[in-house]
Amino acid sequence: MNKKKRAGIKACDFVKDKMIVGLGTGSTAFYLIEELGKRKLDIKVVATSNQTKKLALDFGLNLLELEEVDHIDLTIDGVDEIDPSFNAIKGGGGALLYEKIVATNSSKVIWIMDDSKLKDALGEFYLPVEVIEYGHNFAFNKFKKLGLNPKIRTKDDKVFKTDSNNVIIDLYLEKPIDIKKVKAILNNTAGVVEDGLFLNVCDLIVVGYDDKVEVIENKGKK
Ligand code: 5RP
Repeated sequence: MNKKKRAGIKACDFVKDKMIVGLGTGSTAFYLIEELGKRKLDIKVVATSNQTKKLALDFGLNLLELEEVDHIDLTIDGVDEIDPSFNAIKGGGGALLYEKIVATNSSKVIWIMDDSKLKDALGEFYLPVEVIEYGHNFAFNKFKKLGLNPKIRTKDDKVFKTDSNNVIIDLYLEKPIDIKKVKAILNNTAGVVEDGLFLNVCDLIVVGYDDKVEVIENKGKK
């Protein structure tokens, strides 16, 4: 079994009847959603992207819009990289805005991954920044001037658009990322909607290896 599938299946053990569950986006989340479909639990789900909405419906899950629920018991999502303090980068799949809204409004957050996502520090992966289309060239030029090595994300030779019709500027930063500095710049840039830094958001990680799966608790989260 592949590592991502191992993690996705294991994470389903944390899902209990009557829960409202936030579903992440990406290839690891696929295995989670597939397995939840098989387990036929009495749950309701909310999705972090249009792609995940479709999967949830395809696998027979009871899908609600986020606006229809008043709480989320548990969210399970993938991650692009994570450091020993449980700080992470997400948004490789372009769903960072919805993923952050859902995760930060969940009672519990679990991230599922293969072991390649575990890093000693953040910065090997680019940092996705979601900006509105209007004037995004000014944000881009500012990031360039400040040495943040920005690149506008494209797909099939066209500018990539998020589910909210925004643009993503990926920052190729030096490792380790100076989180304070980058956050200050992003907070001061008009048009920035969200960034892919998820700092100490998760309660637990589930890591798939070739021959095992490991569950690691984030003891630093209250
Ligand atoms: C999407 C994400 C994904 O969770 C992240 O990119 C990991 O993806 P995968 O499970 O395919 O490796 O943040 O916006």
